[in-house]
Amino acid sequence: AGVNAKLALVLGIWIATYVIVSFALAQRCRHYARDYAAARSLVSGKIVDSVTNIMNAKLFARRDYERSYLDGYLNLEVKRARETFWFMERIRWFQFLAAMVLMLGIIGYALRIWSAGGMTVGEFAMAASLSLLLIEQARGLSRRFLEFFEYVGNIHDGVGVIVRPHEVVDAADARILEVRGGGIEFKHVDFSYAAGKPVFKDLCLSIRPSEKIGLVGFSGSGKSTLLNLSLRLFEPQVGSILIDGQDIQTVSQESLRAAIAMIPQDPMLFHRTLMENIRYGRLDATDEEVIEAATKAHAHEFILDTDDGYDSLVGERGVKLSGGQRQRIALARAILKDASILLLDEATSSLDSITERHIQESLSFLMENKTVVVVAHRLSTLSHLDRIIVFHDGAIVEDGTHRELLRRKGHYAKLWSMQAGGFLPDIEVPEASTVDLAS
Ligand SMILES: Nc1ncnc2c1ncn2[C@@H]1O[C@H](COP(=O)(O)OP(=O)(O)OP(=O)(O)O)[C@@H](O)[C@H]1O
Ligand SMILES: [Mg+2]
Repeated sequence: AGVNAKLALVLGIWIATYVIVSFALAQRCRHYARDYAAARSLVSGKIVDSVTNIMNAKLFARRDYERSYLDGYLNLEVKRARETFWFMERIRWFQFLAAMVLMLGIIGYALRIWSAGGMTVGEFAMAASLSLLLIEQARGLSRRFLEFFEYVGNIHDGVGVIVRPHEVVDAADARILEVRGGGIEFKHVDFSYAAGKPVFKDLCLSIRPSEKIGLVGFSGSGKSTLLNLSLRLFEPQVGSILIDGQDIQTVSQESLRAAIAMIPQDPMLFHRTLMENIRYGRLDATDEEVIEAATKAHAHEFILDTDDGYDSLVGERGVKLSGGQRQRIALARAILKDASILLLDEATSSLDSITERHIQESLSFLMENKTVVVVAHRLSTLSHLDRIIVFHDGAIVEDGTHRELLRRKGHYAKLWSMQAGGFLPDIEVPEASTVDLAS
């Protein structure tokens, strides 16, 4: 019995040390696993980026460049993988050696006692096999530690992406937006996408119910941002935005977005049928209503030209639509939605003049009794609106009707006279400073 107690004590101490050391080592595996997982997702991201930009790679004949660019990231992944595997391999060797030493020790010890006659063969066999069993269990446990911390590292990399807090959340006591006329008011709004780069500073703008205004300004001056803020896709850092007197931060985003129809600068379509894509504007619309909206948006003609008409699937293996055709689908959606506020971000920018003329008619019909904000570079599409706002560097520099602004001979008049055949030359921001709108 004395022999067995001694054996049990040695075994107990060994197992405790073994498990603690394995645990400590396995914990370090977390970092390796996390870095490896991060390298893996970096590589997948780079590959997706290269593949989606295959057109650029072709246009600039950059196949070899893309290849060596990806090679760099792949090498990084391989390096991280190697580090991780080496680290785990070292731990496994430690476990293996520790187990071997103990096993040999126990067997040698038992052999000595047995040969001195202190033990029967049966006892020896039992002691040896029990020790082996315990060692095996301890090794199994430490392997689990290693796996566990490997997963912890992997998860750490992924969870960081998923668990980022939602930027815009409804207030706990969010009310339903009650739309009466659709007046929009920006009150002393400061906004920046990234700290230190303000888009708006102390912006004040009041749009009366059913008023139709046009936004003009150089590329990057904040026109789309103003629409994004009205939809509460982003929130101002300072100030508030009211719709019919209600702060949009206090109403539910559902009700806010139900009240606004937006045609974005570059509308996206679902990989679904044309019918489903248009009906997205109002899910309970009948087929006839969808077709009516498509007709008003001048989409009906080209839809009938596709193989399956309204049942044609949009996307890679279905019909591929041009930019202008996608805009007309988006317009049909907005017509179906029939919301009180209409935001058009260059909604007719991809259209030829004749199609645009047709659509302007449908648009003016759609705009009736609605509050409308139109962003356009082609000033001729704005001249019939109630009011035109000129943006520069995130501030309003002119505000008035087309006639008033022309008479003022300011920025708008300058832009208007610069237009050749109704187009504003596409001046990028750096060049814009040479025109110096603010002067
Ligand atoms: N999602 C975003 N994240 C960070 N910065 C952004 C984002 N969208 C726009 N910006 C920046 O905000 C500024 C205003 O952009 P905005 O899209 O409002 O310009 P715009 O007047 O609509 O230009 P355009 O006429 O080219 O459409 C730009 O400097 C742009 O770089
Ligand atoms: Mg824009």
